Amino acid sequence: MNIVAISGSQHKKGNTAILISMIIKEIRNNTTSKHTISFYSIGKKAFKPCKGCKACIKKGRCTIKSDDWDRIAKKMLKADLIIIGSPVFFHDISGPLKTFMDRTYSLWHARQLKGTRIIAVVVSKRSETARALESITLWAQLHEMKIIATVCGKRDAHFNIKSNASCQKSVKKAVKIALGITTS
Ligand SMILES: Cc1cc2nc3c(=O)[nH]c(=O)nc-3n(C[C@H](O)[C@H](O)[C@H](O)COP(=O)(O)O)c2cc1C
Repeated sequence: MNIVAISGSQHKKGNTAILISMIIKEIRNNTTSKHTISFYSIGKKAFKPCKGCKACIKKGRCTIKSDDWDRIAKKMLKADLIIIGSPVFFHDISGPLKTFMDRTYSLWHARQLKGTRIIAVVVSKRSETARALESITLWAQLHEMKIIATVCGKRDAHFNIKSNASCQKSVKKAVKIALGITTS
């Protein structure tokens, strides 16, 4: 599988990255096939916000060239599976992830991501993850992508998401669906 993983956290090795990595590890542990995995931690990449110029309607691509958008977009277009995650910031997704998702407007007109399978990942400290999860799933629905699973994690008092049992359970379930071992 061609897998693209995107973490919208500012922490390269933070909880969002850990949870996404748990999914990737579980995929690797459950198949003998080779996977191409591209992991992007976009929180500190300073993506330019969508200008709303709408040039992408005709061109089918974004006209902003001064950041990493094109490189990641090309990878997403070839992906069999996109794992996209965010920390909960004021009950919603992080600013960097929202900025990144807005740039996908360039791929939306011709539904270039249509049918791509997606796992949505959200991490919080205390609050519910529902609103952030809805932001990601609505975005994916508008692109006509296929949301195969959602994985939410609450970090415990010791910042440890790895030992969270319900989190591990949803990771295993998501991976079984991704690998076609079970259906959703
Ligand atoms: C600006 C900001 C806003 C946050 N808002 C919330 C919130 O509304 N609810 C919550 O449970 N956690 C909130 N948190 C905590 C983060 O969701 C939590 O620490 C998460 O594990 C961070 O993920 P990371 O380690 O990948 O950066 C907030 C953190 C920051 C920095």
